[in-house]
Amino acid sequence: MLRIEILDWAAARAEASRIRLKVFVEEQRVPREIEMDDMDAACLHALAWLDGKAVGTGRLLPDGHIGRMAVLGESRALGVGGAILERLVEEARRQGMREVVLSAQTHAIGFYRRHGFSEEGEVFEEAGIPHQEMRRVLNS
Ligand SMILES: CC(C)(COP(=O)(O)OP(=O)(O)OC[C@H]1O[C@@H](n2cnc3c(N)ncnc32)[C@H](O)[C@@H]1OP(=O)(O)O)[C@@H](O)C(=O)NCCC(=O)NCCS
Repeated sequence: MLRIEILDWAAARAEASRIRLKVFVEEQRVPREIEMDDMDAACLHALAWLDGKAVGTGRLLPDGHIGRMAVLGESRALGVGGAILERLVEEARRQGMREVVLSAQTHAIGFYRRHGFSEEGEVFEEAGIPHQEMRRVLNS
């Protein structure tokens, strides 16, 4: 059973940090100081629970950026990431945002395209990983 919660940073922190450290720092070798920025306290966080275990997370910034999408390796390709993304988009819509944007790692462009995002501009590098800006317009 999959359940997505929307939480503030105080409530999400323990599980979201654990998942992000595992995925971004251990798996993708992103430096810890880049992964942990100072935006978390201002964001809303999604936590995905699969059969009672927290396996994925993502965040929505006040300016409409979605980021830090991460699902533990053993729980991928089950729809968890898609459910997190759609829940964050729903939250953005609820807040009256007209669009959401994100910096996709290029390997995940297809995933975001399938959820209504389109590429904008050129590929750029961040934390040693190629990224692509993508946008989804929210129709009311
Ligand atoms: C990107 C990520 C969040 C997607 O999470 P997920 O739970 O695997 O997402 P979903 O299961 O909803 O969708 C994955 C899609 O890729 C497909 N897929 C096929 N093989 C796959 C594999 N080995 N791993 C992941 N996805 C795979 C799935 O079928 C699915 O297709 P769909 O969108 O047509 O349904 C996850 O792969 C991840 O955490 N990656 C590492 C961190 C990262 O790169 N984050 C993104 C930063 S922009």
